[in-house]
This record gives sequence, C-alpha cells and structure tokens, in this order.
Amino acid sequence: MMRIVLLGDIHLYRLAIWPWDLLSKRVLGQMNLWFHRRHRFHIPGLPSLIEHVDSIGPDLLLGTGDLTTTATRAEFRLVVEKLGPLFARYDTVLVPGNHDRYTFTSTRRRYFEQAMNVDTVRHEPLYRRLGDHLHLVGLDATRPNLITDRGHLDPIALMRLGEIIEPMTASDRVIVMCHYPIAMPPGRAPEAKRHALIDAASLAEAMAGCAAQVLYLHGHVHEPQCWRHTEADNLTIINAGAPLMRSAYFPHGQGFWQIDIEPGTAADPALRHHVVDDAGGWRADAVAWPRRCGEVSSIV
Ligand SMILES: [Fe+2]
Ligand SMILES: [Fe+2]
Repeated sequence: MMRIVLLGDIHLYRLAIWPWDLLSKRVLGQMNLWFHRRHRFHIPGLPSLIEHVDSIGPDLLLGTGDLTTTATRAEFRLVVEKLGPLFARYDTVLVPGNHDRYTFTSTRRRYFEQAMNVDTVRHEPLYRRLGDHLHLVGLDATRPNLITDRGHLDPIALMRLGEIIEPMTASDRVIVMCHYPIAMPPGRAPEAKRHALIDAASLAEAMAGCAAQVLYLHGHVHEPQCWRHTEADNLTIINAGAPLMRSAYFPHGQGFWQIDIEPGTAADPALRHHVVDDAGGWRADAVAWPRRCGEVSSIV
C-alpha cells in the first residue's frame, strides 16, 4: 500500500514592500496581504500541521502549489526554513502555484525551483512510475501575469501528457497533479475566467480520453473536495484545500488529504480528510470514494 499525503495552498507570507516592488504586481499582492490574507491564513498553525503529517508518515508527499503569497525571495526563504525539513524527510513532489510565480522576476530567476530544489520544466511534464500500474504526472500551468491569475498549459506539455497517458490500459492508475482545477463540482459556480486555467477543457479531454483511472489533484480554489467528473467516469478529482486558511466552515484551517492506494489493483483508494477540531486536536474523517459520474464526496 502506498500512503500519500496531499498538501494544498499553504501560502506562507512575509509582509514587505520595497520601492522596486511598487512597479510590479507584487504591490497589489502586498496590499491584499495587509488587508485580507494575513487575517485568514493562520501561519502559527504550521508546526502542528507538520507534526501531524509526521505522525502519518507518508510514503509520498505531494504539493499542488501556492506555498508562498507574493513569491518574494524572503517568502521562499521562509518556505525553506519552515517546510524544507518536512520535504526532506519524505519523498516529495511539488508543482508550483500561480502565487509561486507572482512576478516575471520570480519566474525568470526560478525562485521556486531554487528554493524547493526541484526541477519543474514548463514544456516537459514531470513523470514518475510510483509502482505496479501506478504513475504520477506533474504539470506546471503557472504564468506570471500583470493583472490576472489565469493559468496556461504549454501546448507541448499537453502533447507530452497525451504521449504519457495514451498507452496506459484500464489496469493503470495515473495521478495527475496541477495547481489549477479543470472544472468545479456540480452545484458550484464555474471559476471566474480571470482566475481559471485557459486550457482546462483540453486538459480534461486528454485525461478523459485515456483508458487509465485518473486521479486529478489540484489546489488554487481553497475548498477541500473530492468528486467524480460529470462526464468522464475514469476521472476523479481532489481539491487539496488550504491547510492554514480559516473560514466559517473550517475555523481551524481546511486540513489536508491522506490517500491510500494499493498499486496494481482496481480497488478504490481509501480517502481520509485530516482537520483540526474545536478542541485543538487533529481529526481524521473517512471520505467515500465517489463512484458515479457527478458524485461529490464533498466535505464543504
Ligand atoms: Fe492559486
Ligand atoms: Fe492559493
């Protein structure tokens, strides 16, 4: 059995505005931080989160991006300091989020790659064989953008993804990791265009068209959810949620997912959602694996 922990949008931040930042998108991000985000993201909850992940001891630790908020060097130093040791203890695979590529400078100077000691290549998806008939693909759809938070997949990356998953058979399971959602579950309003992945439909189509069971992991929209795609019955989607983000429904943060997969079998993965309860301890809720198209095992 392979035990996977999925960590979503952690959004560490450092409040700072330097004169040269006034010319970049970062000033918008910093203003957003001062007035909104810092009240919602409870950074003091991080040590408890790390301790709880350690108590689970995953075989594989996955991160769907947005480790930082405005992609400053200082924020990446904070990520290295606070999360680096956790990432070093486990087999860790990370893809960046749009906030990790907040400005052209952070992208051009590869702050994310340097800090995380990972190599994410835009054109080439990351591929790993995890076990018997079990595969992992990571995609980077982030782009620095002056105004919006839109994502865009390089056409070459989409083509390469097709080349990886097309030969797979019904006995294969592939985990595809990308920061952006490909769709919202039934009953949820579609994502605003300015926040969405431009190529979401093409990506969904590519995954729906392969014979393998696909588990699509994403972040970006801060809501933990699991659901089966409305039209593609081979496509299950998990929205990671934001572990440190407080909301009315999650007053102590949105928690994270544990996914237990038996490689080489058709058995549904076992899913648990870990969240801090009112007493301050961690609670693990078993969540049913959605089996029918459009079925939502949502916890919000
Ligand atoms: Fe994001
Ligand atoms: Fe985010």
